[in-house]
This record gives sequence, C-alpha cells and structure tokens, in this order.
Amino acid sequence: MFTSGIFASLFLLASAQSGKRGLFIEAVTDCSQFPLYNNETMIAGPWTIKVDNCYNGTAPQGVCSIEGFESGSDITRQRDDRPDTIEHGFITIVSNNDNIKTNLRCNGALNTIEAYVLSGPGAGALDWHAVGIDHHPSTGRLVWGKPKAEPVQAYRHYHRGVPVEGLFLGSNDETNWAVHSSRKDVSIMDMKTYWVMRLMIPETRIREDEFRTLIRIDGS
Ligand SMILES: *[C@@H]1O[C@H](CO)[C@@H](O)[C@H](O)[C@H]1NC(C)=O
Ligand SMILES: *[C@@H]1O[C@H](CO)[C@@H](O)[C@H](O)[C@H]1NC(C)=O
Repeated sequence: MFTSGIFASLFLLASAQSGKRGLFIEAVTDCSQFPLYNNETMIAGPWTIKVDNCYNGTAPQGVCSIEGFESGSDITRQRDDRPDTIEHGFITIVSNNDNIKTNLRCNGALNTIEAYVLSGPGAGALDWHAVGIDHHPSTGRLVWGKPKAEPVQAYRHYHRGVPVEGLFLGSNDETNWAVHSSRKDVSIMDMKTYWVMRLMIPETRIREDEFRTLIRIDGS
C-alpha cells in the first residue's frame, strides 16, 4: 500500500500543474462535497488537514517521516501590529502527531475555508477565521488575517479519468505543497516546533530543506 502511495505521489507531483500524463484536477466549490457536511448550518467539518503523499528524496523508497501528520497553527508578528492583539497567523503541520491540532471547516454560507485559531486581544481566544494563500514567492503559506490572501479551495484529482480518493487543498489549480521544519520556532499553541507548509505557486522554488507533498482534508 505504501509503495502504491509513493508511486501516486511521484506521478501527481510530476504532472499536477499541466494535466500532462493523464492527471487532471478539478476544483470542488461546494461545501456539501466536503466531509461532515451539515445541511442546516451549511458547514462541513470540523476536520484537520494532513500531509499526504509526501516524498523524501533522500530516504529509502522516498518514505517521509511526517506522512499523515495533521494541521497546527502559529501566529505572525509584524512591526506595525498592535502589540496586545493577535491579528494574523498561519496554518502549520505539527511536528508530532500528539501535539495540539488546529481544525478547519468549509463554511457554505460564506463560501470560505476557515480555521479555528487563536486571535484577538491578550493571549487570544479560539475563533473561526477565513484562510487563504499568502501569494508571495517566499511564502505561499496558508494564512488568516491577511487582506490580500488568495482564496484556497479543495480539488479532486483524476488519474486517467479515474477519481483519486481524497480532497486536496490548493489554490489557482495548484495542489503541490512544500514543507520545511520551523527549526527553533515554536507554536504559541503548545510551544512545540512545527513544519511550515507552502503552496507551490508558479514563482516558488523548492528549497533544499523542503519536502514535496499534497495536503489532504482528513476524512475525505
Ligand atoms: C438537505 O437539504 C435539502 C434542501 O433543504 C433537502 O432537499 C435534502 O433532502 C437535505 N438532505 C439531507 C441529507 O438532509
Ligand atoms: C528524509 O530522509 C532523511 C534520510 O533518511 C532523514 O534523515 C529525514 O529525517 C527525512 N525527513 C523526512 C521529513 O522524512
């Protein structure tokens, strides 16, 4: 099973952008297509997002140690922020799957994907915020609280016309991500290190310390 996952990974990563070699991706625009959709609230979720089909080029058989690891979050600070308020942050991948996770959901009333993150005055309180891609070559991170973020959505992958199991997060028809370690940076959620996930936007170059992966909606 693992071998076939790796094969699928190589295949998807090689061809997701162009639709070459029989791979095809399709945007899923309606929250009712997501796991745990509630007809009355028009909300699907909550669920985490997780590393799926991660590829480690230096490991035997490409095995990636963080395959299946789920989402966490951290806050960002900028010079012009109000000092006592959490105004923006980003979604991460936990460094140990026992660490505190961050849930996301699809909000059908607003047609947005949202994350349950710490925000507001003081130490902050958990609340739902729309997330998007910070469309800049050096980041591509999944952020909340940034006015210029690009919308994020889920995609279904087709391989030679056959749907591949799962829904994959992406933006502008791109579903390939790169992850790298936060090294010494720790999350405000649990003071643990994490992995930073970046969408591979056209301007992005993968760095030496990064691993390619897809990001799958858990339960899809
Ligand atoms: C969801 O809502 C629609 C319209 O209100 C209704 O037709 C449908 O039967 C509902 N589905 C479920 C599973 O409740
Ligand atoms: C990738 O493989 C190398 C060599 O086996 C290993 O040291 C490293 O921890 C792996 N990283 C991930 C994320 O799998």
